[in-house]
Amino acid sequence: MKEKLGGINALYPTPTTLVGATVNGKPNFITIAHIGIMTHNHISLGMGKSHYTNAGIKENKTFSVCLPSESLVAETDYCGIVTGKKTDKAILFDVFYGELKTAPMIQQCKVCMECRLDRIIDFPSHDVFVGEIVQTYAEESVLSERNVDVSKIKPLLFDMNSKKYWALGGEIAKCWNIGKQLKTGKT
Ligand SMILES: Cc1cc2nc3c(=O)[nH]c(=O)nc-3n(C[C@H](O)[C@H](O)[C@H](O)COP(=O)(O)O)c2cc1C
Repeated sequence: MKEKLGGINALYPTPTTLVGATVNGKPNFITIAHIGIMTHNHISLGMGKSHYTNAGIKENKTFSVCLPSESLVAETDYCGIVTGKKTDKAILFDVFYGELKTAPMIQQCKVCMECRLDRIIDFPSHDVFVGEIVQTYAEESVLSERNVDVSKIKPLLFDMNSKKYWALGGEIAKCWNIGKQLKTGKT
C-alpha cells in the first residue's frame, strides 16, 4: 500500500546551479535548483517573482547557468540566502563573460553555460525563464573525450524534502543498453 501525500513534488534531487545575470549594470548570482531540460539545448529556470535577478534577465535577455562542485557548497548556499538588492554576491567569485557579453559566469565553477532568453512562462508567483544554450565553457579537468564527465564535476544535488545538499552516487548501467536484455522478441 502507498500513502497519499497530497500533490507534493517528489522529483528531487535536482542539480543546484548558480545562475548569473547582469542586474542594474552589475553581475549578480542566484542559487537555482528548480531547473529543467526543455529540449537538448533549452533550459528552464523556475524563479520566484520577488527575486532581484529576474529584472536583469528580462532586461538583457541573457543569463548563465554555472555548475558548482561540492567544494563550493557554502558559496552556493550563500547566494541562495542573501539578495543582490542589498549585497554584492559577485565579489565571492572571479567573474568572466562570453559571447553574449551580459551573462556573467564564474571561473570557480568548472562548467558554465551561456544562455539567450527564448521565452518567459508567466505563472502568478514565478517567472519560468526558458533559454537557449549558446555556448558551454568547461575546464579540461572535467572532460572525458570532450564530453562533460559528471563524476569529475562532483555536482551539488538539491533535495527539498530533506533540505540538504547531496552528492552524486556511482554509475549503475549503460542507457539505451541494459534494457535490451528484457527484449521478448515481440516488439
Ligand atoms: C539550495 C537553494 C536552491 C534555491 N532554488 C531556487 C529556485 O529554484 N527558484 C527560486 O526562485 N529560488 C530559489 N532559491 C532562493 C533564491 O536563491 C534566493 O531567494 C536568493 O537570495 C535570491 O537572490 P536575488 O534576490 O539576488 O535574485 C534557492 C535557494 C537555495 C539555498
